[in-house]
Amino acid sequence: MRTLITLFFLISIAYAQKMPAIIPQPKNLSLGKGQFEFNNETQFFCKTEDQQIVAALLKEQLRAVKLFNNKIVSQKPKVNFVQFSEDKSLKAEAYTISVGISEVIIKASSASGYFYAYQTLMQLFSPEIYSSSYVSSFKATIPVLKIEDEPRFTYRGFMLDVGRYYMPISYIKKLINALAMHKINVLHWHLTEDQGWRIEIKKYPLLTEIGSIRKESPEGHYRDKKGNGQPHSGFYTQVEIKDLVAYAQKRHITIIPEIEMPGHALAAIAAYPSLACTDGPFEVRTRWSIENTVLCPEEETFRFLEDVLTEVIDLFPSQYIHIGGDECPKDNWKASAFCQELIKKEKLKDEHELQSYFIKRIDKFLTSKGKKILGWDEILEGGLSENATVMTWRGMKGGLDAAMQKHDVIMSTRTHLYFDYYQGDIQNEPLAIGGQLPLEKVYSLDPFPEGLKPEFTKYIKGVQAQLWSEYVSTPEKADYMAFPRVAALAEVAWSLSPKNYEKFRLKMPIQTERYAQLGINYAKTAFDIKFDYNPTDLSLKLSSAYPEFKIKYSLDGSEPTNKSAVYEKPLLLSSANLLKAKLFSNNNEPLGRALAQPYNYSKTFRKKVSLKNPAEVSTANILLTDGLLGAKYDNKGWVAFKDVDAEIDLDLDVKYVCNALKINFLTEPAQSAFLPSSISISGSNDGVNFEEVQALNNIDSNNAGLEINKFSFSLKNKSYRYIKVLAKQTRLDSKTKKLLIDDIIID
Ligand code: ACM
Repeated sequence: MRTLITLFFLISIAYAQKMPAIIPQPKNLSLGKGQFEFNNETQFFCKTEDQQIVAALLKEQLRAVKLFNNKIVSQKPKVNFVQFSEDKSLKAEAYTISVGISEVIIKASSASGYFYAYQTLMQLFSPEIYSSSYVSSFKATIPVLKIEDEPRFTYRGFMLDVGRYYMPISYIKKLINALAMHKINVLHWHLTEDQGWRIEIKKYPLLTEIGSIRKESPEGHYRDKKGNGQPHSGFYTQVEIKDLVAYAQKRHITIIPEIEMPGHALAAIAAYPSLACTDGPFEVRTRWSIENTVLCPEEETFRFLEDVLTEVIDLFPSQYIHIGGDECPKDNWKASAFCQELIKKEKLKDEHELQSYFIKRIDKFLTSKGKKILGWDEILEGGLSENATVMTWRGMKGGLDAAMQKHDVIMSTRTHLYFDYYQGDIQNEPLAIGGQLPLEKVYSLDPFPEGLKPEFTKYIKGVQAQLWSEYVSTPEKADYMAFPRVAALAEVAWSLSPKNYEKFRLKMPIQTERYAQLGINYAKTAFDIKFDYNPTDLSLKLSSAYPEFKIKYSLDGSEPTNKSAVYEKPLLLSSANLLKAKLFSNNNEPLGRALAQPYNYSKTFRKKVSLKNPAEVSTANILLTDGLLGAKYDNKGWVAFKDVDAEIDLDLDVKYVCNALKINFLTEPAQSAFLPSSISISGSNDGVNFEEVQALNNIDSNNAGLEINKFSFSLKNKSYRYIKVLAKQTRLDSKTKKLLIDDIIID
């Protein structure tokens, strides 16, 4: 039976590897026998300009990679051609591709249909087709097959936040090409923030003169409460914006601008302080998190916003204008006599209805200009404006509520679509805002909220991923956070074929080769090695999401190569090690990155631990001596002692000559985790009578930020079997305090 299952497994992999790895998966695909081979004589037969535009894209790519010079012709050749042909029965964006031995026939009814056929056709070649220069080994062949395809949703979006960090236009163009490859058709451009105003507005030059510059940015995570001392600035001129909008249009991507109001507007307020309800001075925000100073709903503010939006409308032909609406604290409005007077005058219930009044006025203005508003789901609070489309980010409920009120919804839920979240183990990933959003979770999104009645599903217009940029200061990092998660987004947004993560997973090695050809700095996290300890026999099991590929490893800290040892069974750890492991494809090419498992093997490893006062986690005894140090931004792995002293007794089994004891404390004022006021280390040979070997008193326990604090104590080469560590809680005030301790090592 087992052999049968294995055989089936191997056949299904072989099959999956033969099937073209098209992302997003087309609606129908049937593979035939044989292939079509492009050569210098292959002709592209077109009748319309839309067809010629796409034929030219294919021609240019084959010229770059194979130095072909294919002709675009208007007479039908007999053999060896690609025919573009109109089929009015196909919906907008839909297409079919039929590949035979001597011809390829592409049908569509619109420019976007031909364009998406081209994007699919590219993926029928091997990944080198995406190279920007000649590849001698590249074979310009594609398999004989038939494809019928059309999108699931008309709105397939990706949001880029340039408020927190400016991104160069050259990068946004590269991103647009990468999005188009995935059949994404909206770039939502988050242009204004507390931390920066990035769009030139002619009537209000200070918006960019003052609002596009901030004094510094946070260093590390904002919870570290440190600044980097480096100014950050940048904005887009109207000329650049027009050029970018046209560039995106050619790739069938609509750019939707977002001008944030009434919150997230401190950069504008810093430029024009009278826009606030309170007195200044104000400056462009230098820290992340929510800002309390917001726009004041005065006539002057509405005049300002209408002027700004008038210029915005002239730049962006998109039907939608995004007006933000999220995270607007009401403190300013509660304290403002003007706002309270306005609430009375307009017979509003509270400040939420005042926000609703604000958004409705803007909606009315934009509607009068032929535009539609799009806003974050907070615009539901206090009553939804008549024409608003809701972008639901705080989970699925906002989407459910808006759809039931017969408003269009773009599903943007942070649970599945916030690409600023981590995509793998925090210890191996670059700094991110928090959360966990691995590839599989993005893929698993069902955009229709539970409980939505069938008659309301039509209001779910699409899905959108968000790349907030608090922790994304460079294009390289933006690529890293976006790809390959955009591939999973694309399958949710476009694919009508039944969902199948197994098939999707098997397409990733080829998709990432395409990214490599395109110079996209994609994350290799999906190919990571997972380390699992078995505490009973101290063995370490390695695994990956790709059991069909080999794991290779080294024990000396060197980078594993294709010649390194192949992992076959759990490894026994017996001395100080730095284990590194990496995934290799069947062609022996590295697929993932080398992951390291540092590991402190010492006299305490897996020795008996007893605690006088209880810790918050039940696995405390294991965690303290498992040789693994907890991570900086991750409480997991740390042993918390809340409002009690940590008195830890170690039994080393036999007497050892002890040189030094090392112990680590995680401090984070935000969760009341401080250093102890004193640490004392004692030794004993009967477990009853202890002698203090070293102590540290009067530790300044309040000044540490978010840090791992390492302490080392000399044990003076004395012989002990029992060691006691006593870390005393600080009691500067009566508030709750925590000691977070990990990894006690004795050399
Ligand atoms: C949001 O994340 N504040 C829309």
